Amino acid sequence: MSAKFKNPRANHNFQGRTCSITGVGSYLPAEILTNADLEKLVDTSDEWITSRTGIKARRRAAKDEFTSDMAAHAARRAMKMAGITGEQIDLAIVATITPDMPFPATACLVQQKIGARRAAAFDLEAACSGFIYGLEVGQQFIMSRTYDTVLVIGAEKLSSIVDWSDRNTCVLFGDGAGAAILQSRENSHGLLTAVMGADGAKADLLSMPGGGSRCPATVNSVAAKLHYLRMDGKETFKSAVQAMLSAAQEALRRCEIDITKIKCVIPHQANRRIIDAVGERLGATPEQIFVNLDKYGNTSAASVAIALDEVVSSGKIQRGDLVLLVVFGAGLTWGAAVIEW
Ligand SMILES: CC(C)(COP(=O)(O)OP(=O)(O)OC[C@H]1O[C@@H](n2cnc3c(N)ncnc32)[C@H](O)[C@@H]1OP(=O)(O)O)[C@@H](O)C(=O)NCCC(=O)NCCS
Repeated sequence: MSAKFKNPRANHNFQGRTCSITGVGSYLPAEILTNADLEKLVDTSDEWITSRTGIKARRRAAKDEFTSDMAAHAARRAMKMAGITGEQIDLAIVATITPDMPFPATACLVQQKIGARRAAAFDLEAACSGFIYGLEVGQQFIMSRTYDTVLVIGAEKLSSIVDWSDRNTCVLFGDGAGAAILQSRENSHGLLTAVMGADGAKADLLSMPGGGSRCPATVNSVAAKLHYLRMDGKETFKSAVQAMLSAAQEALRRCEIDITKIKCVIPHQANRRIIDAVGERLGATPEQIFVNLDKYGNTSAASVAIALDEVVSSGKIQRGDLVLLVVFGAGLTWGAAVIEW
């Protein structure tokens, strides 16, 4: 294996079984909602949305299209790239804050849809950080030789929890799914390190108060709009920049590399100004940073999964290139991962 960077797992009696991403796939629902469409719904403008967020459009799932459907589409594409059937999947993890229903897990519904009959299945809830959390959880099973093939999906139908009369939030979010197949591959370090963090003291910054055990659905809770996403945008913005920057720096430090060694930075696609602030402080060039939020807005757990698929399919990275994923979300949660593609 190449030694152009340190494999941080070596500090922990690393036994030599690595975990690579052998397939990626994504799915975006067909309906496109442009800023002009939102101008008809709320008191906003294309100029305001574009200058404050960088978002020009987002996708919206059909009424009868659910998180598990989008997840299954993305999974099938990732399975095709990896050259595997559903039968080969040992574990399916779905990262989401918009499961089809509180239980059973959306991962079980996906498992059935893609014919992953042998697979264990569970959901993981780390909001927009869920895909990196999922990669790190999945990779533990590969490295420990518990499983050979793990499917990790980030999928969201955020349109189902957005208040379409609240201009502060409805312009920001979109629907979609992205998936990755994890396997050990010869001569590749794969997922080198993943930093994960959380700060529950800031849980109120971004939440959906209703629908859980604290506030089950009642006529009053629905009338009070407690089943919609709520956000303190300004404070979330500040925390996002700080958390993403320190997570990314920690991931690079563990690999003993600097940002110039990274071919592509894939940040969580929430706000163009957050991405620019993090990129600048990291010392990344605009060419290194991948952005697609103009097309899709913030798709939470699906965001970096969709972006990774687009980076791969557009040929921006080749096998052996280093990729830095960096995310932030409700919880608060954050994470960063360095991957040898
Ligand atoms: C939400 C966000 C775009 C707002 O941008 P901002 O520069 O902080 O804007 P402000 O909060 O200063 O709002 C300024 C004004 O714009 C108004 N405004 C909010 N949304 C608007 C919209 N869609 N169209 C027009 N005006 C809008 C506000 O009501 C406010 O008006 P007021 O001053 O009369 O009260 C920004 O804070 C943000 O992106 N935060 C992070 C959100 C995020 O990424 N969340 C997900 C994390 S995973």
